[in-house]
Amino acid sequence: MYHLQCIECGSIYSIEEVVYTCRNCGGLLDVIYDYNEIELSKKELSKQPLSVWKYKKLLPITRDPVTLQEGGTQLYKLHRLAEDLEAKEVYVKHEGMNPTGSFKDRGMTVGVTKALELGMSTVACASTGNTSASLSIYGAKAGIPAVVLLPAGKVALGKVAQALMHGAKVLSIRGNFDEALMLVRDLCAKEDFYLLNSINPYRLEGQKTIGFEIADQLGWEVPDRIVLPVGNAGNITAIYKGFKELKTLGITDTVPKMTGIQAEGAPPVVDAVRSKQQNITPDPDPETIATAIRIGNPVNARKALKAVYESGGTAETVTDEEIITAQKQLAQMEGIGVEPASASSIAGLRKLLQNGTIDPDERIVCIATGHLLKDSEHVLNVCPKPIEINATIEDVRKAVFA
Ligand code: F0G
Repeated sequence: MYHLQCIECGSIYSIEEVVYTCRNCGGLLDVIYDYNEIELSKKELSKQPLSVWKYKKLLPITRDPVTLQEGGTQLYKLHRLAEDLEAKEVYVKHEGMNPTGSFKDRGMTVGVTKALELGMSTVACASTGNTSASLSIYGAKAGIPAVVLLPAGKVALGKVAQALMHGAKVLSIRGNFDEALMLVRDLCAKEDFYLLNSINPYRLEGQKTIGFEIADQLGWEVPDRIVLPVGNAGNITAIYKGFKELKTLGITDTVPKMTGIQAEGAPPVVDAVRSKQQNITPDPDPETIATAIRIGNPVNARKALKAVYESGGTAETVTDEEIITAQKQLAQMEGIGVEPASASSIAGLRKLLQNGTIDPDERIVCIATGHLLKDSEHVLNVCPKPIEINATIEDVRKAVFA
């Protein structure tokens, strides 16, 4: 029904193999299905409620999934903020509403199930936080140990708390995410642990369901554009693959323009798009308040750049200030609470509308990748502090009307 194929040299790997990148050329791998054998209709899909496993005919799993009911997240149409952006039709897909509060759960339900299918006994990842939280809950649910490597001092506390509480072995690496990822790849090779970073093509299969759900929620219409934050560049790749598969199966007839947003201090994919390169130049010292996307050497860059170019999309950077402003606007004009990285999509959209790159008449979906509560320390730094007063009505009134 499916196999793994190198995106560079076309080498094929069987589904029994534990392989993350091509053994011949080092290229990234894709999961390729025999699409002629997959029968899927809008009518059939419309009968079932939204969830990752609703689309199981397009997921590379045969056993019962390790699931905590991921997916089925809200697609909010913006009103006040859309007016402020001077855009006609903008939606936010709130991936913060997944079990651990980020889109990573979609990938991990598939990835950890695949680990069991392959008979692996330990799962591992490097993470800027959300991947580790997600791996931890699915490891717990599956009853297998999880090992997570985090860049010390650069992970939002809510994410560390999740990894700790769900029982992962949490290692704080004196180094950045890119170094942690190199280490965990080495660890997995040496110890036979199952690597669940987004270099693992099976994880991206779960994440492509974001694309399926958006089309599903829009009555099987495809938006003109998807705008999302880019870190390790897995999600942009996955969502694009989802839309392409819907088109291949004849369920939809277009694909959206994939538009990636990075922080100004960690912009390797944007730099490559600006100079029309097929490869990125790694940034040795990435820095941004949006710690989730504080990544200088995104492993999925080759796939992500293909998604941007093929779909006629683009990429843009935003400053930390623009991210904070967008985060507050989304929270205060629409009631949608997201973490800084997620807000970069709105900040980027504003910039691209203002500079004329995006047509205000487009139907646009921004992906809010993670929940506000992931990073509450940051909130205390950027919002006014609670006002402490005596417990008297006089003081309350004084403070309210101050
Ligand atoms: N938004 C959030 C909230 C994230 O946590 C991440 C990635 C991204 C966007 C970028 O997605 O890597 O697929 O381009 N976080 C990873 C982690 C790196 O370890 O949690 P990407």
